[in-house]
Amino acid sequence: MAGFDLSEPAIKYLKRRLRRSRLSAEVYVDDMTEFRRKKKADVGYCMINTFRHLANEAEAISHLKCVAAALRKGGIYILGLHLLPPDADEEDGERWTARHGQTKVTMTLRVLEFHRRQRYEIVRFSMRVSRAGRDLRFRTDYRLRIYTAAQMKALINSGPEFELLNVYDFCYEIEEPLKLNDDLGDTVLILQRR
Ligand SMILES: C[S@@+](CC[C@H](N)C(=O)[O-])C[C@H]1O[C@@H](n2cnc3c(N)ncnc32)[C@H](O)[C@@H]1O
Repeated sequence: MAGFDLSEPAIKYLKRRLRRSRLSAEVYVDDMTEFRRKKKADVGYCMINTFRHLANEAEAISHLKCVAAALRKGGIYILGLHLLPPDADEEDGERWTARHGQTKVTMTLRVLEFHRRQRYEIVRFSMRVSRAGRDLRFRTDYRLRIYTAAQMKALINSGPEFELLNVYDFCYEIEEPLKLNDDLGDTVLILQRR
């Protein structure tokens, strides 16, 4: 098992979690658009919209080429992201709360800007962490690239590296594969390295 992220604090945190759980994995800082692996993997995955951080077509293509080079022939790449159905509410938001022991985390996502033609949105992530009467607040604005089903199909078909094997949503019902079309929002693509 190996994994990376551009964020050093995220990798430090993950290393602490692995140590605490007495697990081992190769985790390090790297860039999705230009990484290389010596040993080929059977499966790769990239979930929860991370792929949408890649700002343009060139970065997305470069990423897919890096993943293809890191997988053995016939290997699988699992890519999870939100697609944009044509009738999607451009002002959409989301809020969730999670508790762990004394700690309560509330996350609020709000679309600040939406640019359909330029294919990006700015999403504000506001996090409130409460513990023992103490409150911490964090706020980050991320620029995320927008994909419709057709744009995602075109991207996959733009190179020879991958074949689309199956499509699911975030219910992960393996016996009930879906179609890559405009009915989908939450999307999990199963790509096979040719
Ligand atoms: C939705 S979070 C996912 C966090 C974590 N990797 C996971 O899967 O739970 C998106 C992550 O993408 C990372 N990221 C953004 N651009 C990146 C890039 N070019 N290369 C590697 N990681 C990147 C950010 O640092 C952020 O941690």
